[in-house]
Amino acid sequence: MAGATIFIILAALILYGVAMPLSFDTHRNHGLRLRILHDGFAMEPSVPVDFPDPSLIRHENGTWFAFATNSGGRNIQVARSRTRNILGKWERLDIDAMPEKTWTSGRNTWAPDVKRLYDGSYVMYFAGEMPDSHQHCVGVARSDKLEGPYEADPEPWVCPREEGGAIDAAGFRDPTTGRQYVVYKIDGNSKGDFSQCGTGTGDPNLKTPLLLQEVSPYDGSTKIGAATILLDRIPALDGALIEAPELTIRPDGTYVLFYSSHCFTDPKYDIKYAYSRNVKGPYRRASKSLLQTPHFGLKAPGGASTGGEMDWLAFHANCKDNGRCMYITGYGE
Ligand SMILES: *[C@@H]1O[C@H](CO)[C@@H](O)[C@H](O)[C@H]1NC(C)=O
Repeated sequence: MAGATIFIILAALILYGVAMPLSFDTHRNHGLRLRILHDGFAMEPSVPVDFPDPSLIRHENGTWFAFATNSGGRNIQVARSRTRNILGKWERLDIDAMPEKTWTSGRNTWAPDVKRLYDGSYVMYFAGEMPDSHQHCVGVARSDKLEGPYEADPEPWVCPREEGGAIDAAGFRDPTTGRQYVVYKIDGNSKGDFSQCGTGTGDPNLKTPLLLQEVSPYDGSTKIGAATILLDRIPALDGALIEAPELTIRPDGTYVLFYSSHCFTDPKYDIKYAYSRNVKGPYRRASKSLLQTPHFGLKAPGGASTGGEMDWLAFHANCKDNGRCMYITGYGE
């Protein structure tokens, strides 16, 4: 009797010992569930004018900045928080962060993302239109001052013309390894016609993959190794495309890849995310969008950017006659 009891206790301890680490390892298989932290129903825009595809960055003095797609005659728009409170008032600055057209057509400059380098200077990734085409390629521009003016390197940084070009680059420094990365989108849907998101929806073979490229942390652009595909469009779930990748990491080391799906003119345009224990993937898609029409009264939210040690999310959504305004919210698990 005593022998059997000891055997059962021993067996239970062994099973427990095996099962516990397993259950820890598989924790994330149950799913990372992010949610928007916002009180009340409707969200109000931080920048209530056309300010699409925003990118968020905080100056060392505590002031927040955001950069956005061209509008109102400026290649790259800039906005600044009036106080250190990111949820407080913002103002759009009367400046163009990248006034020179350099290798681009000087039109349709999209989706900037600004990061600080080790030497204290800033690097801006942007999508510039090729002079001879409606296609875009990703460029890198630099400035010693956060608000610019940024000066572009002489040649595009990534320019896969055969595949439709590239857009929506965003930098990410992995705090656990110190390695620096850029994620971007192969603009496959631009191969279609000249309509707003190409002919993508109808063609199941059309690809708009999101890629990860490691770069030198010193200049933010010298490529290290080949690019890795993190995610691609699933027509039934994503419609015409996926785009606007943004990489970040949770406190427990889980990598989160935010992205948008569907054409930006479609009310189904949204903010989704996928996650992985490894920066190079495989990334697992969350089962639900993080933000979509009509959450918090928003219409077609997308183009998310994260910023700071806190979990802030800047994004755009349609705002009446004003184009795509910038909104900011907290998010968490
Ligand atoms: C912080 O620096 C930025 C960039 O030079 C400037 O625009 C902003 O006014 C500064 N903020 C404060 C509070 O000094």
